[in-house]
Amino acid sequence: MEQQKRYGHFDDQHREYVITDPQTPWPWINYLGNEDFFSLISNTAGGYSFYKDAKFRRITRYRYNNVPMDNGGRYFYIKDGDTVWNPGWKPCKTPLDFYECRHGMSYTRITGKKNGVEASVLFFVPLKKWCEVQKLTLKNESNEVKNLKLFSFEEWCLWNAATDMENFQRNFSTGEVEIEGSTIYHKTEYRERRNHYAFYHVNAPIQGFDTDRETFVGLYNEFADPQAVMEGKPRNSHAHGWSPIASHYIEVALKPGESKDFVFLLGYIENEQDEKFEAPQVINKKKAHALIAELDTTEKVDKAFAELCALWDNLLNIYKVRTGNDKLDRMVNIWNQYQCMVTFNFSRSASFFESGVGRGMGFRDSNQDLVGFVHQIPPRARQRIIDIASTQFPDGGCYHQYQPLTKRGNNDIGGGFNDDPCWLIFGTVAYIKETGDFSILDEMVPFDNQPGTEVTLFEHLKISMNHVINNLGPHLLPLIGRADWNDCLNLNCFSWDPNESFQTTENVSEGTKAESLMIAGLFVVTGKDYVALCRKLGKDDEAERMQKAVDAMIAAVKKDGWDGEWYLRAYDFYGRKIGSNENDEAKIFIESQGWCTMAEIGAEDGMVAKSLDSCKKYLECEHGMVLNNPAFSKYIYEYGEISSYPEGYKENAGIFCHNNPWVIIGETLAGRGNDAWSHYAKILPSYVEEKYQTLHKVEPYVNCQMVAGKDAFKPGEGKNSWLTGTAAWMWYTVSEFILGIKPDYDGIRIDPCLPETATDYTVSRKFREAEYEITIHPNGSQKGVKSIVLDGKPVDGTVIPYSAGKHVVDVTM
Ligand code: GLC
Ligand code: GLC
Repeated sequence: MEQQKRYGHFDDQHREYVITDPQTPWPWINYLGNEDFFSLISNTAGGYSFYKDAKFRRITRYRYNNVPMDNGGRYFYIKDGDTVWNPGWKPCKTPLDFYECRHGMSYTRITGKKNGVEASVLFFVPLKKWCEVQKLTLKNESNEVKNLKLFSFEEWCLWNAATDMENFQRNFSTGEVEIEGSTIYHKTEYRERRNHYAFYHVNAPIQGFDTDRETFVGLYNEFADPQAVMEGKPRNSHAHGWSPIASHYIEVALKPGESKDFVFLLGYIENEQDEKFEAPQVINKKKAHALIAELDTTEKVDKAFAELCALWDNLLNIYKVRTGNDKLDRMVNIWNQYQCMVTFNFSRSASFFESGVGRGMGFRDSNQDLVGFVHQIPPRARQRIIDIASTQFPDGGCYHQYQPLTKRGNNDIGGGFNDDPCWLIFGTVAYIKETGDFSILDEMVPFDNQPGTEVTLFEHLKISMNHVINNLGPHLLPLIGRADWNDCLNLNCFSWDPNESFQTTENVSEGTKAESLMIAGLFVVTGKDYVALCRKLGKDDEAERMQKAVDAMIAAVKKDGWDGEWYLRAYDFYGRKIGSNENDEAKIFIESQGWCTMAEIGAEDGMVAKSLDSCKKYLECEHGMVLNNPAFSKYIYEYGEISSYPEGYKENAGIFCHNNPWVIIGETLAGRGNDAWSHYAKILPSYVEEKYQTLHKVEPYVNCQMVAGKDAFKPGEGKNSWLTGTAAWMWYTVSEFILGIKPDYDGIRIDPCLPETATDYTVSRKFREAEYEITIHPNGSQKGVKSIVLDGKPVDGTVIPYSAGKHVVDVTM
């Protein structure tokens, strides 16, 4: 194996990942912002900001697909004599005497040192404020006086990130700015329909500025050597059209040992229609002034930062484990939960692999993300469920995606993904179990956001289940529609035209026999949940109706969904088997093994155990379990996108981490703790971090969507980091099924499934108005709780009944 260089390490005490070499194998990024204003920031300060929606309200410009890869961001240029450098190394790439990037919980701190000067920048978005703070501290560590020239830099995006990249005949004429003191205002399109603008401010007098990119950079220069900076002379340029930017120029004199703070603010403001202007053509800056006043000193900024840190203290205090295994504890207590919050916020919209223009919030994705987040801020999860359900149609089908700004279903992609409806039950049940808030089921929720169409959320759940029942195929298994969870198994697509989207094309769908075993398993799992919910609500008739449908589905899977050693994956358009030993390639797929084992279909006949064994035998490799095996080696017209990828990548036999936890949960339900753990540890970032920093390439502190599988050119290489359902599934798996602390309607169910090497551990769990301190003694057992003692008294069964207050629980396996 090639020598694995290290680029950083975990700092658990500060909940940070510390990057010590700026030339990471790929930009290693972080996310700033918690609700409305968001930023992406790389370890060299690359990235961009937006308000709510990465497509429609892009504040700063970022070029995806750039050379070099991560170019453009918030840059500070320091000119010290003839040397120009940046604290984050880029874009000048002047060798630094010291470099460090600390990615923490919603903040990033980048520190560079050069020739006796230290520059440290703290980046964060204060709670409830629409701005990014950049607190720059310059310190003279030398013995002589330093006269530095400091230039800031941001490049504005003309709001709509899609048209910003293409409509140049217009864009080059619309750019407008205003300058007032130390604040540069970006007001492109404000004169017409926009009632929002952005600004870039610094809390110090400036000695110059630039707002026109070409004047600042020079047409034949680059971010690495902007003319104004190289010459140490701002141009005081005023952008009219072309590409507006914002750059402050400040002369800083520092005595030996002296340090100075500068607070830079990148802000976003919305005005009422009739209060847009303070004079003809002059934007109303009242709200900007107010926002600036809230953050114009180091003290105010430090206070805002302390509030952000306190929020994370609270969020990460809800579920905390102490196992004595640092690699597990840091993922459970810090990074996995953090990634869940990020995926909840962004769904699959904006990362260094998702451009922010293509996808908004996914129906299935967001329901799954919710499960990783609901214990932290339940009211936001509640709102999310209502938003998602509002994009459903009366027949139970739904829009596959919606835009976060408008909350409207996305017409470009439409609907027809037949797994989508089931996920609404998955998300809602998780919410109610966490909170005990059944009232959400009475909320009136519209169809397709049309006022006047409202029915209760419960009704939405019911029609979701019905959508599956009403769309069964010849084997009484669910019709797949455009695709199920696997967006690339496009069984009605039949495309030979490269200009057609696999996602939205259904050239042949009349008379389809394409059925999905993944949806069958998903239906049984969520159907059982739905039945239990109905019973809880006293809706016994409805419970019985659905129990019958679930039983029928189980029977259909046993009859026509079993291949002898594993569950089939699907039937194609013509009713031929997919994922069968009879096939030449892709004989076995992971999704149906995951969902049918989670549904425990045929456990009594040994089907579950055989399926799990087959996963180990055919899917598992050094880096996790691949999606299918063997990989497709050629394009199959009847299967669509899945067979378009080269072997070992993405949905064609990549390790699509998202679905590994399904099999792991299957293992835990079957009581196979050793196997569950070994699958889990293979894709646990902290284990990967230790072994494969260079090979893995992407951020070692979070899961990525896909790791190249065993058939790939470079097995183990990661891609599509951050925004993946893997986050929520890893969390759900470890918190509820491995460590075994599972919220339920009436309390917390305790049912761990562990490797036999596990030793005693303690989980502190806040739950509704209660706080439980739960100690588990595994005693070498993989599964099976022998006794539970709650506050000194034995409990019957495995559920600790809920009651407010502090409790101590002792569990013996
Ligand atoms: C992507 C999509 C998700 C889909 C998965 C498998 O992660 O966001 O919706 O289920 O790919 O195709
Ligand atoms: C591609 C990807 C899949 C993703 C989909 C989203 O098909 O392979 O992972 O979910 O695009 O549109």
